[in-house]
Amino acid sequence: MNSFVTGRRLARELGEWRSNAPAYRALAERIRVLLMDGRLSSGAKLPAERELSQALDLSRTTVAAAYSKLRDDGFLDSVRGSGSTLRLPGRERGEHGMHNGLAFDFTKATAPAYPGIQAAYADAVAQLPNYLSHDGFDMVGMPDLRETIAQHYRDRGLPTSADQIMVTIGAQHALNLVTRTLYSPGERIMVEQPTYPHALDTFTSMGARILAFPVRQDGGWDLAQALLQIRRAAPSMAFLMPDFHNPTGMSMSIQEREYLAAAAAREGTVLVVDETTALLDIDRGPMPPMASFSPSVLTLGSLGKIAWGGLRVGWIRGPRDIMAQLLRNRPAMDLGTPLVEQLVATTLLRDLPSMMASRSLDLRRGRDTLVSLLAEHLPQWKVEVPDGGLSLWINTETISSSALALAARAEGLGLVPGPRFGVDGAFERYLRLPFCYRDEQMRDGVKILGRLGQHVGSDPLRMPLQAVI
Ligand SMILES: Cc1ncc(COP(=O)(O)O)c(C=O)c1O
Repeated sequence: MNSFVTGRRLARELGEWRSNAPAYRALAERIRVLLMDGRLSSGAKLPAERELSQALDLSRTTVAAAYSKLRDDGFLDSVRGSGSTLRLPGRERGEHGMHNGLAFDFTKATAPAYPGIQAAYADAVAQLPNYLSHDGFDMVGMPDLRETIAQHYRDRGLPTSADQIMVTIGAQHALNLVTRTLYSPGERIMVEQPTYPHALDTFTSMGARILAFPVRQDGGWDLAQALLQIRRAAPSMAFLMPDFHNPTGMSMSIQEREYLAAAAAREGTVLVVDETTALLDIDRGPMPPMASFSPSVLTLGSLGKIAWGGLRVGWIRGPRDIMAQLLRNRPAMDLGTPLVEQLVATTLLRDLPSMMASRSLDLRRGRDTLVSLLAEHLPQWKVEVPDGGLSLWINTETISSSALALAARAEGLGLVPGPRFGVDGAFERYLRLPFCYRDEQMRDGVKILGRLGQHVGSDPLRMPLQAVI
């Protein structure tokens, strides 16, 4: 799918793009960095030269020269009458070797499959004959699975019945469906800053105007800012991750949950609470779900992180009137969740405590290993240790993570730079490092980081030469 990048959005993404280099060169270089680290996608259409020159208050000649440089370097295709499309040349995409051409791919905070998954699939296939006379289209979810998910909420102290649950094809699908249902063009959506990048992708692909309020490692959720944004801009929805927030790993206190739920309910903003990471507890202990504090909260869940990303089963829990709207809107997106995967999910969820205990052990080992490797190789980084989740969120203080990610890629190490998690180019000095990889992968990856950390500076444009492939 080709997406259009407006002049205003590109201006926001560019952030501080100027450097000592001539303006056309600095602009082309910054656009290339955004393309390489995923903030702009290959196939996206750039704004017309005139539109971008207005958005940046630059001469059209400068923008034309920047586009021309991108074209000469193989990053832009321009066809008269149909605009300019970004593209990643083959070698930049890493078409050699396995797994994106990267020896260590730290771009995904996701763990290998839970060991019990193969047996659960075998069991599901054995049950399949019972379902083959059914037409197989299941828009709402199998009754046993919905009941098992409802029981999971009841076990967490939140009364829930099966008719408040819709099974989806993962949480990302759930978020798309929820956004299509709650959001109308021209409205605003509030997010945490930093937030989950594909949630931002979902919202911006629908043209939403994004408002952000800070989540700080040293102060938690900035409730005063959240309230101000809700009051001033009346966002139709707010997207939150109160449990082991991705990427910081932080959790909201009970008071923060109570306060935000009450404020949103009062002002008519629907809270969409993503609990994809909520089961990844290392040493925190249970907390009441956000939905315990307001009946209008919509909760998204998933087995993607706790069991396996390849399972593609998630769900939505919400009030019955919104669930009915979601059901009406779903056929425009898909025609239901696969049955075998639902049977697997039912088996796994019935033994959720075992799965959580197994994940918790692996995550603790991974977290502690990564923290001690960083202390050895990058002692200058002050690392906050989360009590759950899958990653560390590190303020490097002095290093441009965009430059670091580009330099690391040239050494076979994939990283996601901080600004991918922010709105308007924030978090240039931050890096998300997942701790769900094997010890030896983390050791080799951190060694590369330690080496690069000595050379990469704070300027996103001043990168080691080898990064400019
Ligand atoms: C916070 C968050 N929400 C949603 C998703 C997507 O979940 P799923 O794989 O169930 O679509 C992820 C996966 O990275 C995530 O971290």
